[in-house]
Amino acid sequence: MRVLLTGGAGYIGSHTLLKLLQDGRNSVMALDNFSNSSPEALRRVQKLSNSNFETHVGDYREPNVLDSVFDSFRPDAVIHFAGLKAVGESNEKPLLYYDQNVSGSIGLLDCMQRFGCKKIVFSSSATVYGEAQYLPYDEDHPLNPTNPYGRTKYFIEEIIRDWVASQSDASAVLLRYFNPVGADESGEIGEDPRTIPNNLLPYISQVAVGRLKELSIFGNDYETRDGTGERDYIHIDDLAAAHIQAVKFALDNRGCEAINVGTGKGVTVLEMVKAFEEASNREIPFQIKGKREGDVARSFAKVTKAQKLLGWRAEKDLVDVCRTAWNWQTKNPSGY
Ligand code: NAD
Ligand code: UFG
Repeated sequence: MRVLLTGGAGYIGSHTLLKLLQDGRNSVMALDNFSNSSPEALRRVQKLSNSNFETHVGDYREPNVLDSVFDSFRPDAVIHFAGLKAVGESNEKPLLYYDQNVSGSIGLLDCMQRFGCKKIVFSSSATVYGEAQYLPYDEDHPLNPTNPYGRTKYFIEEIIRDWVASQSDASAVLLRYFNPVGADESGEIGEDPRTIPNNLLPYISQVAVGRLKELSIFGNDYETRDGTGERDYIHIDDLAAAHIQAVKFALDNRGCEAINVGTGKGVTVLEMVKAFEEASNREIPFQIKGKREGDVARSFAKVTKAQKLLGWRAEKDLVDVCRTAWNWQTKNPSGY
């Protein structure tokens, strides 16, 4: 199959690109403007897969960029990763987020329609659920995102749903990722935040490698096992595999499905610190600080829909997460 990856050089895009190439039966193109990634990620995927793929450098919001990509590559399906993802920044610059994520996605769907490409897998997020009314979150849980970033994901989901309903043979899989973490086993590709990390695991690994002094733990009086926030951490390798299954599902089916991608198990911040200390054999100094605004106490997925529709389930565990994140961090202490 011919698959276009918007945002293909990013953290999740690069790992998915590698899996698509390792599958051996796919022709792939990565479209990226490198606004939050490095061309080096694509060079490393090429080396690791020992296979060629096409790259187009450009902004996916530019109609002439998309037209030229679709005209030359003629994808059967699109995996749509491109967009902005920082919750805090989205509170300060909501219009930028609506333009990059929502307007950009409308332009992409318009281009797909004009070129007769009717299959899309979209990077959504568990953040669309908002405060839990019950746990685990299943796909029917009410949607109530609490920040502009989350609302862009919610609006795009609805737009895709309407678009699919308007087309005779379109299909979409809305993958609601929980917390993607870890790195490829090779340690050649991984998560490479451009600024001080917002997310727990890259922050911990930068403390372990000595780039940051200590971890701030945001709150220890949540109603969880040890008082710290509990999340469903999904290994990037498993997440990439879910995309391969989702593309196949989209190609074989019609309609729109939202599907959780998680492990179904929650891990607290303190449990993650301990697991990383064991994997790295380093101490992670930390201080307990106040709660981070907008954080929920617990978040984890019901994962039966992914098993039923995609035949997919997470295989890697917390030990794999910490081992591969540490391998990537030590091999690339300053990123790409
Ligand atoms: P990332 O920033 O590493 O990847 C996004 C890629 O898109 C980058 O390579 C960036 O350069 C590119 N890009 C951004 N704007 C672009 C534009 N206008 N034109 C072309 N390329 C553009 O992020 P990621 O962690 O790989 O996330 C991928 C997707 O998954 C995003 O849509 C994100 O919202 C979603 N998601 C991520 C997480 C997470 O925790 N990482 C969780 C839930 C959902
Ligand atoms: N945390 C700390 N210290 C840090 C960073 C995080 O204690 O320096 C804690 C948080 O309070 C939370 C947990 O670690 O309890 C996980 O925080 P992350 O920032 O790693 O992840 P979030 O669950 O807050 O958010 C992530 C992505 C969102 C996405 C969401 C989906 O950043 O974009 O998962 O569930 F929407």
